Amino acid sequence: MVDRRQFLLAGPMCFAASPLAGCDRGTAAHREAAAVLRRPLPGTPDETDFVRYATLAANSHNTQPWRFRVDGETIDILPDFTRRTPVVDPDNHHLFASLGCAAENLSLAARARGRDGAAELAEEGEGVVRVSLKPAGKAEESALFQAIPMRQCTRAVYTGERVGRDALSALEKAAVSPRVDVLIMTDRPEMEEVLELAVAGNGMQFADPDFRSELKEWIRFNAAQAVEHGDGLYTRAGGNPAVPAWLGAVIFDRMITPDSENGKVAEQIRSSAGVAVFIARENDPAHWIEAGRAYQRFALQATALGLKHAFINQTVEVAAQREALANYLGMPEGRPNLVVRFGTGTDLPYSLRRPVEEIMVTVA
Ligand SMILES: Cc1cc2nc3c(=O)[nH]c(=O)nc-3n(C[C@H](O)[C@H](O)[C@H](O)COP(=O)(O)O)c2cc1C
Repeated sequence: MVDRRQFLLAGPMCFAASPLAGCDRGTAAHREAAAVLRRPLPGTPDETDFVRYATLAANSHNTQPWRFRVDGETIDILPDFTRRTPVVDPDNHHLFASLGCAAENLSLAARARGRDGAAELAEEGEGVVRVSLKPAGKAEESALFQAIPMRQCTRAVYTGERVGRDALSALEKAAVSPRVDVLIMTDRPEMEEVLELAVAGNGMQFADPDFRSELKEWIRFNAAQAVEHGDGLYTRAGGNPAVPAWLGAVIFDRMITPDSENGKVAEQIRSSAGVAVFIARENDPAHWIEAGRAYQRFALQATALGLKHAFINQTVEVAAQREALANYLGMPEGRPNLVVRFGTGTDLPYSLRRPVEEIMVTVA
């Protein structure tokens, strides 16, 4: 899919798309929207600037399952359950991890402008994250902060190049958390084990009509559709061609099969330098949020190092695969939360976000 769910397969889709190559008429508008969204954080940001930076975080299916409530010197990140994806994420694990990703961006942005930036669970409601904007003195413009507008999930085949030891330890250090462990694998036989689990999980997902229909709903088949919605999985951001929406739907239904997808997943993992698995120490929303934060720091550090990354969560979304991964890692009681591959490769078009005004909640 445009997601790992790289639905649009190079073969059939390119064939179908080639006569329509000039058809993605919204491309310029899409590029402009992506650039405006990623403009630098002003020196003296207001709350809408901070919220915009928070939303540049990764989030499952790009549903953006969040709302932001500004109250004096805090911003609360609230779950938006109307944007959940019940088939792929029945217990809202990914939804809460997405809130963690946004909280990490917000915290880094706050600290870059001399604010406190501490992020903690608010007492009210489940999974509400409160980030402090209290003045805190010195501004800290970290490399992770600077990478926020550049980070993207790059769902492409990478170059296969290895990543040096210093970069690997920087990635590991960025992800450090008292509540989450990160395991980085770069040995080929280990990566092949993950690949097998990912391919099997992928096959099960693409054989499931409910998974397919939920995924299709979030695909934006061309730039105009992506700009109109400001959310979802834009095909070209997944390395696939744009097509008219009606045609995309037909291709998705008729040509996207477990087999067509599985080969792509295998090639993508084999082209990567390594795989990182994030495992929170407890299995509850507070820890899923922490897993999202650890991933977001990892991803920003990768971006700062010039590395690409993308999720291969087929391994953790299907319960049987998740258990098999936990066993393989020697943590049968643990729940692997997120799995990411990384390596070197080229940029793809960025994904979009909804306007900040649509997601801000006013305090009465
Ligand atoms: C919790 C979580 C789960 C995700 N799962 C997948 C996945 O399984 N496959 C994939 O390709 N992308 C996955 N993503 C990436 C999102 O699709 C991506 O962040 C979103 O489309 C926005 O794009 P961007 O990260 O490039 O800004 C996931 C992101 C999060 C936070």
